[in-house]
Amino acid sequence: MSLSSSVFPRESFFLLAPLESLHSDDVKRVISLDDLIKLPHDDSLAQFSIGEYKPAIVTNDLFSFFRFNEQKTYLIFIDKRSESDADLRRYNFFGLVGTFGKGKIVASSSKQTKKSLNLTNVLSNHGQAFVLELCELYEDYDESQDWWMRDVIYEVITASYQDSNNDGFGDIQGLRQRLDYIQSIGIKTIWLTPIYPSPWKDYGYDISNFCDIDPRFGTLDDFCQLVADVHSRNMRLILDFVPNHTSNEHTWFQAALRNDPNYVDYYVWHEGKNNGKDLPNNWLGPSGQRMWTYAPERKMYYLHQFLDCQPDLNLRNDKVLEELKRILRFWLDLGVDGFRADAVRHLIENDDFRDEPLSKKAKDIDPNIFYDAYEHTETADQPESYALVRQWRRFLDNYSYDNCRDYLLFVTEAYHQDIQKVMNYYGANREERGSDVSINFLITYYLDKNDNEQHGLELDKQLTKWQKNVPRHAWSNWCLGSHDSGRVTSRLPSTELIDGFYMLLLLQSGTALLYYGDEIAMCNRPFTLEHPEEIVDITAFNYGEKYVEERTRDCQRTPMQWTSHSPYAGFTSATAKPYLPLADTWPELNVEQQEKAERSHLKLFRQLVKLRQQSPFYGGHQKKVLATKELYAFIRWLHSDIYLIVINQTTSGHEPITTDFVKLLKYQNKQLFGEVVAKSTNISDTSPIGKEGNRIELNQLTLQSNESLVLRLLSSVLEISLCIDNDE
Ligand code: NOJ
Repeated sequence: MSLSSSVFPRESFFLLAPLESLHSDDVKRVISLDDLIKLPHDDSLAQFSIGEYKPAIVTNDLFSFFRFNEQKTYLIFIDKRSESDADLRRYNFFGLVGTFGKGKIVASSSKQTKKSLNLTNVLSNHGQAFVLELCELYEDYDESQDWWMRDVIYEVITASYQDSNNDGFGDIQGLRQRLDYIQSIGIKTIWLTPIYPSPWKDYGYDISNFCDIDPRFGTLDDFCQLVADVHSRNMRLILDFVPNHTSNEHTWFQAALRNDPNYVDYYVWHEGKNNGKDLPNNWLGPSGQRMWTYAPERKMYYLHQFLDCQPDLNLRNDKVLEELKRILRFWLDLGVDGFRADAVRHLIENDDFRDEPLSKKAKDIDPNIFYDAYEHTETADQPESYALVRQWRRFLDNYSYDNCRDYLLFVTEAYHQDIQKVMNYYGANREERGSDVSINFLITYYLDKNDNEQHGLELDKQLTKWQKNVPRHAWSNWCLGSHDSGRVTSRLPSTELIDGFYMLLLLQSGTALLYYGDEIAMCNRPFTLEHPEEIVDITAFNYGEKYVEERTRDCQRTPMQWTSHSPYAGFTSATAKPYLPLADTWPELNVEQQEKAERSHLKLFRQLVKLRQQSPFYGGHQKKVLATKELYAFIRWLHSDIYLIVINQTTSGHEPITTDFVKLLKYQNKQLFGEVVAKSTNISDTSPIGKEGNRIELNQLTLQSNESLVLRLLSSVLEISLCIDNDE
């Protein structure tokens, strides 16, 4: 079937057909424009007969198209399936026409409870038809669908946040005490890393019971109180979902070891080579261990992509998939608003069990411990892993529909340098929706490079790489760090640059992910072999003594720094011992100090989160203006509202840099002014850009090292808009 874009024939008045008739068998037979034209119509809807016609998503099951003229754009949607196909479908129309992000329902064949739909997520039932009037994302803001797009997702390791019972471990009640703070910085979505019962060999990513709370964090009652508190503040809570593996202490694994017929196939087993004397193949996992461990109880090897105490679940077993859905349902029933799915790259392995080839890097690194020494052709990013993500997405869609819940978020974690593989988790097309947020780790990779000379250019390369590759139907996301990568502040060429990075995180288009404590510029705390007893992240030991200090992720997981008064920064009481030592910087870098100071990282962060709610930042356009070794600048705009963000990345001692933005923006007039909206904390109050509201001329904008600035352009709107548009 081919439908080319053409002017919709006025006389056909497809939309004049009473919508009930779209529900009829006639509509189910519609597969072409000609068929539409023959449908009955009603003159009262003549307004829809104007304008152009363009097909949207057309499949055997769905017929959808746009009608538009200069003022308005409509999306007409007809689900042609019959009652025998009761499956709910969701389609993604985002990015198909203009910058529209949502649609107001102006007519529908069925009773709609919602007034508007987000275009990333158009739900459809068999036989349903409706007309949406499209509008920009920021218009008629519908929190129930969009909350995750505008939000900052705040990652919290509960153990490291706030201890309420003086055992040195943060807990759920402690987190409840800190909700005021989290809300005060404008964060609306909290993501908790695993809080389930666990032997805690991998910070809870080794789960021994998926449907309970580890006693060190509290009880299920505590959890329910937390959910209620979060929701009463109009905030959301998402949990880590770890589908790839369990702890070896999980009852399923214990039963599998005993050859219990109900559980024999819950994990992945192999006899091994050479009568069991050799491992099945050469697979090496990301935690520095071979992926196979011999279990004498079964006289077989079990697979583990991560630690040997984290056996991989057999995700080709339907019973296991059912168990996982039961787990998702359990937490959804308690009110959680979505999940962050762990390690989705690693879900499925090729069942031919072929060896993996060495990579180009193998000559420089030890292939017995380093994951990058192999091309993971057999054990990562298998097509079935993408399919599982889509399956869970669909499960959440059905759950939210059946239970009248707001949109349920699905975030996925897939570390990969190959950007296409990361993008695939979004779902390859508009009908097969996958992850909502396939986490963008590019900034964290680039911070690892540590090449100060090339810093600015490398940053530009990574930002552009993401922007160029993100599918049009996907919503972007930005992330500066996580529990797996060192603290962003410690990895920047200069700690002062953190403010500029807040601007990148919060003012570029997309969801922002923030790791707890980064809002106060917390730094890494080094762990050394002089005190091996301090190290909790035992994975580091797999790489040998030489690498422990570099590899331990404890550095970035230290307790949150609240105050300078009490010995442990207010994380726990003076008489307790924190489970992980605090970073030395806590007396200067803590929430209390930064609240008191007139200017601080925290205050700037809060200000930028507020700014991010403005329409140019949510749903507006974005364009790079300048990227050199020293400066990165971009604009965000919507209609006449234009913001310029400039970040000077040179380290101290470098000459100040003066730039002519009038020229760069190709502005026709000689004078162009900008008003200071936000500035990095290191800009002196006495500088011409030192106060919010100051007006400066943009033909000579001077920034010192590590200074960053947000300006609102004051211009003849028309002229500047033309410059931007012409350049598109
Ligand atoms: C990814 C998590 O982010 C990491 O911390 C953990 O060690 C592995 N998955 C294994 O669960």
